[in-house]
Parts: sequence; structure tokens; C-alpha cells
Amino acid sequence: MKILANDGISQNGITTLEKAGFNVLTTTVAQEQLSNYINKNKIDALLVRSATKVRKELIDACPTLKLIGRGGVGMDNIDVDYAKSKNIHVINTPAASSESVAELVFAHLYGGARFLYDANRNMPLEGDSNFKGLKKSYSKGTELRGKTLGIFGFGNIGQATAKLAIGAGMKVIYCDPDVAQTDIELTFYNGQNITFTLKNTDKDDVLKNADYISLHIPGQENYVLGKAEFSKMKQGVGIINAARGGVLDEVALIDALENGTVAFAGLDVYESEPKPEIKILMHSSISLSPHIGAATLEAQERIGQELADQIISLLN
Ligand SMILES: NC(=O)c1ccc[n+]([C@@H]2O[C@H](COP(=O)([O-])OP(=O)(O)OC[C@H]3O[C@@H](n4cnc5c(N)ncnc54)[C@H](O)[C@@H]3O)[C@@H](O)[C@H]2O)c1
Repeated sequence: MKILANDGISQNGITTLEKAGFNVLTTTVAQEQLSNYINKNKIDALLVRSATKVRKELIDACPTLKLIGRGGVGMDNIDVDYAKSKNIHVINTPAASSESVAELVFAHLYGGARFLYDANRNMPLEGDSNFKGLKKSYSKGTELRGKTLGIFGFGNIGQATAKLAIGAGMKVIYCDPDVAQTDIELTFYNGQNITFTLKNTDKDDVLKNADYISLHIPGQENYVLGKAEFSKMKQGVGIINAARGGVLDEVALIDALENGTVAFAGLDVYESEPKPEIKILMHSSISLSPHIGAATLEAQERIGQELADQIISLLN
């Protein structure tokens, strides 16, 4: 059977699939050439990340497809229900990148609390001529230890973020109507475990009490953080969005940064990806990354392995 990994797949995933007798093609075929390529090469399974779109038209045009796999979480680029209605398996790897996203959240949080996003912009420009001035402007950093992290969305990534926060000495509160209570188990390098039981908190209580807020919810119709929500937050809160562009109102965020409600924001995702608004890109209080939450070598290996294991059990 032939598999096209159109947005790439890790080497361990390829090796596992090849050992099971699959032929894995890693050519990146342009979206408009995809149906031709799939039909010409009689591809059985199409693997994508977020770049390749698998819409109804493509599914209709490719009768050989038996499986569509998404390396990662969100399936917004795949017409999942339609594919399933055509008896095509649709798989993803829901938990493989949770720790990677959580670590990126903490990169933004630690960097934000110590102004690293701004220091990294200004040191190359003024580090030699104005060292003392810069030292003074970044002298009022804060520690994360002892602060409260408010998490919206307490699924895989929200809980992975909570583990890091608890390990860093933070208090964690969360809002997720679907997770009334859950046990968070921290596992240490020497095999020791500690379990913390956390309970859902009302949205307004999270907004009012959090020193930092991190979003881990799926994309939805309305903003989860907009003008009304910013008005309820603590003065000087830090906001992180590594979930989806569109869950956070970027215009309201800029206003809240300008009026001091928000001290800094860390963004990995943007309302207008792949062309984020210039006001966001140029803002001196925003720590920026280009949607790299899941982009670690470890996550890519786990994703490749999980996809390979699922394909083998479904198609072999
Ligand atoms: N930055 C990246 O590269 C990257 C990588 C992977 C995933 N993500 C995104 O991270 C987000 C979370 O992923 P996950 O794997 O934890 O998903 P998940 O499905 O495990 O958890 C999402 C949780 O959000 C909750 N939720 C939904 N709407 C809510 C709301 N309005 N208020 C509070 N809670 C709400 C759900 O009940 C669920 O428990 C998704 O948007 C995903 O696309 C980003």
C-alpha cells in the first residue's frame, strides 16, 4: 500500500511503516496537483499536517483513498465528516504534542515576566551604547513562583501546561465546562509522583484572579477573550495564546496592552495567519512565535510513531 506524507513525517514513522510493508512517499505535492498525483500513484493513505487541505472536492476526486491522517491536533484543514461518510478512516494524534506546546507557553511566560522579548529586540541596537539604560528598563521583572496561572480549556495541552506551572511553584485555576474536576499527576525524573486534584472555576473568577492567562481551547465562533473579558482582568496580567487565532480578539488585546490592563502577551497563533497584523508584529509588549507550538523533534517523532501505529492497525 502507498502512503503520501504530503507535509512530511518523521523518520521513525517512515521506518515503522516500511517495516510493515508500506511504501511511504514524502514528496510535497502542490495542492492543485494533489488529486492527479494521488490517482496516478494509486495512493491509499494521505498524511498531512496543517498545510495541505483535504476538502470534499479532493476526497471526491480520489477514490483510492482509504485513510486521511493529520499529524497533530486540529482537523480544521480536513472535511472529516464528509471523509467518514465515504468510509475513509480519518485519524490524528491528539496528545503527541501537548508537552511541546506547554513548554512553548512557558518560554513565553518566563520571557514575558523578564522582558526578554523586548531585550532581544533592543540589545542588538543599543546593547553597547546604552547597556545601563537597558538594564534599568528591564529591572522590574517578576517571578512566576507564587503567582496564579488561569487556564482556559483544560484538555490535553491545558493539563500539560498545568503540570509545568505546578512544578514552577504556581497556583493553577482553570475554566473548562467539560472538566468538572481532574487529577493532575506530576511525574519526576526519579519516578516519584505527586497528584493534585483541581476543580473547574467560573470564567469570571479565572479572569479576576489570574496573574497570567493561557488559552488552550479549540477554535470557536466567538472570541473567548475580548473587550468585556479584558475589563475584568487584574491590572498587569500576562496573556498567552498558543491555541488558535480567533479565540483572542487582537484589537481588544492591543487596547488592553495600551491601557495597562495587560503587561505583555505571548502569541504563537494569529487571527490572520499566515500574515499577522503589523500592529501585533510591531508591538513592543508582545512576545512572538510563528505557530511552532508542536514543532519539536520529540513531538514530531511521537506524531510519526502514533500515525504509523494507527495506520498499521487500520490498513494492514
Ligand atoms: N500552537 C500550536 O502549535 C498548537 C499545537 C497543537 C494544538 N494547538 C491548539 O491547542 C488547543 C487545545 O488543544 P488540546 O489538544 O488541549 O485540545 P483538547 O480537545 O484536549 O482540549 C480542549 C479543551 O477546551 C475545552 N473548551 C472548549 N471550549 C471552551 C471554552 N469556551 N471555554 C473553556 N474551555 C473550553 C474543551 O472542553 C476541552 O476540554 C486547540 O485549539 C489546538 O488546535 C496548538
